[in-house]
Amino acid sequence: MDRVLVHNIGMLATPRGFSARRGEEQGRIEILRNAWILCEEGRIVSLGSCEPPVTEARRIDAEGLLVTPGLVDAHTHLIFGGWRQNELALKLRGVTYLEILARGGGILSTVKATREATEDELFDKAWDALDEMMDLGVTTVEAKSGYGLDLDTELKQLRVIRRLNEEHPADLAATFLGAHALPPEYKEDREAYLRLLCDQVIPTVAKQKLAAFCDVFCETGVFSAEESRRILETGKRFGLIPKIHADEIDPIGGSQLTEEVGAISAEHLIVCPPEGIEAMRKAGTVACCLPATSFYLGSTFAPVRDMIAAGVPVALASDFNPGSCPSLNLQFVMNLGCLRYRMTPEEVLSGVTLNAAAAIARADSIGSLEKGKQADLVIWDAPDLDFLGYRMGSNLARLVIKKGKVQGGWLRGLYD
Ligand code: NIG
Ligand code: FE
Repeated sequence: MDRVLVHNIGMLATPRGFSARRGEEQGRIEILRNAWILCEEGRIVSLGSCEPPVTEARRIDAEGLLVTPGLVDAHTHLIFGGWRQNELALKLRGVTYLEILARGGGILSTVKATREATEDELFDKAWDALDEMMDLGVTTVEAKSGYGLDLDTELKQLRVIRRLNEEHPADLAATFLGAHALPPEYKEDREAYLRLLCDQVIPTVAKQKLAAFCDVFCETGVFSAEESRRILETGKRFGLIPKIHADEIDPIGGSQLTEEVGAISAEHLIVCPPEGIEAMRKAGTVACCLPATSFYLGSTFAPVRDMIAAGVPVALASDFNPGSCPSLNLQFVMNLGCLRYRMTPEEVLSGVTLNAAAAIARADSIGSLEKGKQADLVIWDAPDLDFLGYRMGSNLARLVIKKGKVQGGWLRGLYD
């Protein structure tokens, strides 16, 4: 029997439950002091405070530090060829994100590099990124396609996600994002690309069971609300759960679509109008907010306080991608959650654990520390939860435990 006891936990902090926490509940965190967690075969079998049970188990001493659930990054564009450092100089000269895209750069230059990369190259590159994420405390990662924009490359990206899920210690959730941009070869015929997606690519992705979710970039000059509806409805007919990149730059109706299509999450929401917040509340959609992207684009920040006040569950994610957020550091995202969204450390913790798990339909098995859930947890170099929001720029993840095994953290070497 594979049994692990994490003991001498100074503060165990976790949201509770099997669904997203909204409103005041988002800030309700259970705190246990002087605590322990017993894991068997990768699952939590019991936890408590004061004396741990006397049992035969491998012991991990948390040295009086903070323990939380493993972080869940519910929005990444993990699989891509190349980087886009050349865009920095353009940005500094004042060229905007959408202008770069309209000139055939941006997402489209990553499409070129991703089409040219072999499956193994994409796999190796994403593997290294996942290692880095785990060292920073992330145990589950959502990953999107969307840099292929043709059948073969979209499938190639999704196969890489599937292989990573099988071989890397992290868990991955796959999202099909074929509607991420209009590919250059369809520049003169949008309708033909929409038909390709709806008649060929979505059915193939579904048939090969390569994705659980379907996403679309609903934005000025990319896909309209009407086109987004069509794609998400088609995805639904093939069993793909809708997600939507909405209100990142212009509010063209993306967040209002959540209610109509029953989106599990809406992403970005930087300029989300009150009607979008109301639609998400009615639909029970998780607002997946990406503050590192606001920071990187130099834009405003999503109205997260309004969302929480309205009873919309909020998740925070990295949006790791080579253009609008070349960072995979969810600890930095947590800092920004406190400092720029003005969330409490407790609200932020729910946002990167249980609510993020709900955004990828996994709140039943991860996102909190309680009996029966997967034994995914982080021992932090921190005495309490406030410390995670307060310190910046250092990796505070000391040990990252995935399914009961040490898989990351700067002290991981001790356990290799
Ligand atoms: O979420 N907004 C669309 N997609 C990504 C950016 C992708 C890119 O620039 O390569 C995002 O910000
Ligand atoms: Fe994104």
